[in-house]
Amino acid sequence: MGSKLGFKLSRGVLNTMSPPISTAYKWASLYRPNPGRPLLDMSQGIPGVLPPVTLQTAVGKAASSPESFGYCSPDGEPAMKRALAEEMKVCYGPNTDVTADDISLTAGCNLAFVATIMSLADAGDEVILPVPWYFNHQMDLTLLGIKPVPLQTLPEDGFTPSVERCCSLITSKTRAIALVTPNNPTGAIYSPSLLAAFTDLARKHNIALIIDETYRDFILTVPPHSLFTPSSPLCSWRSNIIHLFSFSKSYCLPGHRLGAIIASPLVLKKVNTVLDCIQICPPRPLQLALSSLLPTIRPFIHETAIAIRNRHALFRDSLPPRWKVGAQGGYFAFVRHPFIGISSLEVSKRLAMEIGVITLPSTFFCEEEGQAEAEIVWDQGRWIRFSVANVDDEKVKKVCERLGESETAFGWVLED
Ligand SMILES: Cc1ncc(COP(=O)(O)O)c(C=O)c1O
Repeated sequence: MGSKLGFKLSRGVLNTMSPPISTAYKWASLYRPNPGRPLLDMSQGIPGVLPPVTLQTAVGKAASSPESFGYCSPDGEPAMKRALAEEMKVCYGPNTDVTADDISLTAGCNLAFVATIMSLADAGDEVILPVPWYFNHQMDLTLLGIKPVPLQTLPEDGFTPSVERCCSLITSKTRAIALVTPNNPTGAIYSPSLLAAFTDLARKHNIALIIDETYRDFILTVPPHSLFTPSSPLCSWRSNIIHLFSFSKSYCLPGHRLGAIIASPLVLKKVNTVLDCIQICPPRPLQLALSSLLPTIRPFIHETAIAIRNRHALFRDSLPPRWKVGAQGGYFAFVRHPFIGISSLEVSKRLAMEIGVITLPSTFFCEEEGQAEAEIVWDQGRWIRFSVANVDDEKVKKVCERLGESETAFGWVLED
């Protein structure tokens, strides 16, 4: 059989980068671990613990219940949507104006983003993304022929985006601004006032503001914002805001695939058309198990959030002095490496291959070199993302020890 394809692949897929996490694992496969020097994985954002046993048991039971073998409606189980609407009040305050009719459930938050974008934009349209971006958002847009417009964020601003800079990027083709807070990859947490200013900008220009809040439960100064609390009867969040959520991280079950879109029912009517075509329905066992348990899992989420906050502090305090933290929050710390003139790609590669520490370089979260249309206003090649949620405290200390070793082992010129 020949190795050539007898047909063409789509321009969308050919123009889209390959999933970068597998590249990091390929580097790691070249490391030779031993019992005293195991591989330490701080790359993909993976919950470091299992969910409570009550939830594990309930999911198992639900998976063998006869109803879980059939389809449910494209936007999910009504009981799960009602439970999430109630939970929104716990997260955002008692006056939160979100009902089950504002919710569609999806097979994960990545699908929530795809279904939202397919409902908002066509090929040739533009969506503004802060840079560094969550690579799957950029990849989704490229797959669909929609232009990701980079909104540079700066280390001196703690990697939070500027409303003024964003305003200057809006054109007649702009359909949405898509924010992630707490951010992936930087960990930056956008303040309630910054989110309110972006909402005003979106309103002024009649565009959507998508806010992916996958990591919102790891903000301990609750609530993350007050956008869902009505400020005047004339002005509802539904006019411009689309909120996305993932159950993967807070509930520690990424393999079970559940996410949510919270938006005006006018948007969801169209979103549900997309969902019907690409998911038919979100996975049922988890919804059946979780709908009655949702409020009981809050204490577990809170304990996990405290443990991750403490691990962030431990990581910051244990890093060798030349490694500088630019931002921290949610699952991630964004760190500037100390090697002069060396790209983060090269550093991450050697960290994985030679000292057994898997990380993701900032180059995975930015436009490829030479392609950036926006002025490169920060040394974007010097940063590395560490996922502190993946590992326990002991491993965090070991990672930091090995980073210290790399300073001599790699033989590169170091910053003072
Ligand atoms: C910002 C952000 N959105 C969405 C996702 C994907 O979530 P899910 O597992 O629900 O598809 C991730 C996962 O890393 C993420 O970081």
